[in-house]
Amino acid sequence: MVPSHEKLVAHLSQVGDLPPHWRTAFEQVERHRFLPGQITLPDGTTVDQDEDPDRWLELAYTDIQLITQIDDGADEGPGLPTSSASMPSIVADMLRRLEVYPGMRALEIGTGTGYNAALLSHLLGDDQVTTIEIDHEVAELARIRLMGSGFVPLVVTGDGTQGWAGRAPYDRVISTAAVNRVPYHWIAQTRPGGKIISPWGNAFHNGVLADLQVGPHGTASGRFGGNVAFMWVRDQRVSREAVETFVSDDHEFRVGRTELYPLEPLKFDASFAIGLLMPTVINDIVFASDEDDPRFTVWLVDPGSGSWASWHVHPGETSHEVRQYGPRELFSEFESAYQWWLDSGSPAVDRFGMTVSSNHQLIWMDAPTNIIASTL
Ligand SMILES: C[S@@+](CC[C@H](N)C(=O)[O-])C[C@H]1O[C@@H](n2cnc3c(N)ncnc32)[C@H](O)[C@@H]1O
Repeated sequence: MVPSHEKLVAHLSQVGDLPPHWRTAFEQVERHRFLPGQITLPDGTTVDQDEDPDRWLELAYTDIQLITQIDDGADEGPGLPTSSASMPSIVADMLRRLEVYPGMRALEIGTGTGYNAALLSHLLGDDQVTTIEIDHEVAELARIRLMGSGFVPLVVTGDGTQGWAGRAPYDRVISTAAVNRVPYHWIAQTRPGGKIISPWGNAFHNGVLADLQVGPHGTASGRFGGNVAFMWVRDQRVSREAVETFVSDDHEFRVGRTELYPLEPLKFDASFAIGLLMPTVINDIVFASDEDDPRFTVWLVDPGSGSWASWHVHPGETSHEVRQYGPRELFSEFESAYQWWLDSGSPAVDRFGMTVSSNHQLIWMDAPTNIIASTL
């Protein structure tokens, strides 16, 4: 192991993400072998292996996400990251939550670099691991890199939301791309008692991990946890259009005022809960162009109905102007959702859970009978 690799494994063990039965795999599978020569950091900086081999190698063993594809590999586009090697601590945390052990059969959705599939193959054996990648080029590179490291799990090029019936039933399903609707195929292809771990979110909040157990009657249920923001599976991508595109000078908006300040309602737990009640709404914060000007605007936009709200925040003042446009009163909905979260005792993310069947995705708080939203 290069020193930075050793340091990363020690770090993962220390922060508690790495259970003992995973340690050897993390020591022996070399992350740098799964990376392309050019990697992009989350801040957009690019590092080339040929130009700066030491930095490239150091980054391979730094606990950060490395972006490996932009705009599905197209030459031109908005610059959206579409494939990556996830943060090692998140990889380890998800594998820990998966509670996967030798003798089990696993399905991964989102092969990406192949690193996670290599870890699974190391623990379970190639024959027990199937991984699906939607992008042909990404899948092909992963196959080559897996083979180069001595692993040959089944790498399927296809849409992972369909699962892979050919090797079902699985004991464990792990998705490394986020969903808003848990594909029912994953449940149908998992053995009763098996587990599904997937990043989950919506337009308002991306996201958390859904930790589901498959029951005997074709449903899966479990709680949310963690704090992760993953790329979406391709056909569930959330619109990232700039808020301005939904606002026009002709819009006759309604004006009001609020004493609510955004800091608390936009924090992780509150914002997750609010998002459960307004899942299609995008939120964005736009700061004043002059950096000495402390004012900022919180935007809420519902692309489907064309409704928007802008909350013009002036730090230091006790009330702020709010404008609302369209059939939905988005700010009023937001205020009520926040009040509901406060009245419920400000529940953290892990008090919420989800039950998925072939025709429902029900979100609950504390117990599956206390349903607060249906998202299908
Ligand atoms: C965060 S990356 C996965 C990281 C990967 N597990 C690793 O170890 O490097 C997400 C991947 O999911 C893939 N993806 C997106 N939608 C998909 C789908 N419907 N089916 C299969 N793969 C999908 C993307 O192309 C991307 O490569």
